[in-house]
Amino acid sequence: MGKKVLLTHELPGQAIHELAQLCDLKVWPGPGPLDAARLRAELAGCQGLVCLLTDRVSRELLDVTPDLEFVSSMSVGVDHIDVQAMTERGLPVGHTPGVLVDTTADAAFALLLAAARRLGEADRFVRQGHWHAGSAWSPDFLTGKDVSGATLGIIGLGAIGQAVARRAAGFGMRVLGWNRSPRAISGIENATLEELLQRSDFVSVHVGLAEGTRNLLDARRIALMKPGAVLVNTARGGIVDEPALAEALSRGDLSAAGIDVFAQEPVAADNPLLALPNVVVTPHIGSATTLTRARMADLAARNAMAALAGQPMPCCVNPQVYD
Ligand code: DGY
Repeated sequence: MGKKVLLTHELPGQAIHELAQLCDLKVWPGPGPLDAARLRAELAGCQGLVCLLTDRVSRELLDVTPDLEFVSSMSVGVDHIDVQAMTERGLPVGHTPGVLVDTTADAAFALLLAAARRLGEADRFVRQGHWHAGSAWSPDFLTGKDVSGATLGIIGLGAIGQAVARRAAGFGMRVLGWNRSPRAISGIENATLEELLQRSDFVSVHVGLAEGTRNLLDARRIALMKPGAVLVNTARGGIVDEPALAEALSRGDLSAAGIDVFAQEPVAADNPLLALPNVVVTPHIGSATTLTRARMADLAARNAMAALAGQPMPCCVNPQVYD
């Protein structure tokens, strides 16, 4: 029955059921993601792949899957896919921008507030039974950093960065922005990356991971940050040098960080950031609301349905394959 499509995880939403009507859909039942060898084995003979950001689509995988005609990822980021290798083969890559913008901006702001106001430490303090008469309310007890009126630097002025800026406006923050190609956006003052780091009380990262952004916040740039600043990353690990960030936090150069994404995921237990009380960590949940995940799944399925029909994907990372 029709073309074979591998789906690497069961998906929420409705459109996936429509996709199942249009092709021979093979769903990996888990538990957990496919490892590289299993992905290669399951993909043999398939014309399509609908995957998650945990599935690595490398040039080597493409070399041994000559039947593959498209990849549709349920993610906006596509750093897990060798897009160049796909483009060289004339194969479209679908992704899911737009539908997760506000949800991810909410998560970034939640981490910003949690890091500023030391919510992780405060939560552990109560749960671990440290809140007793001898450690009750006092003037300097668990004091954090004001968000209202502070300066926020946004690295990457795409849709999510702009959505974070709108939230910051509600908190009366001054907003600086840096984008590789400068963008004039009302309410955001353009700055060089260096200037942004030097002037911002809070810095939030919203660029994709690519060769040009890998290690963008390296030790040298982290050292430029304002004393006592807070760093938030809900974009991708690999953009921030984690050991350098951990050192800056341990020395007290920065006051806190909120980190949702790591260079290695799941994060290793000995990652130095996990040992620091002033780091609020979450396990890559920026887009994790029920509604947004269903919308992402629907868009991933619609991209796949378009490819099966020989139509351009509605959200294609490499539309030049259609030229
Ligand atoms: C994406 O879609 O790339 C996000 O990281 C998922 O939360």
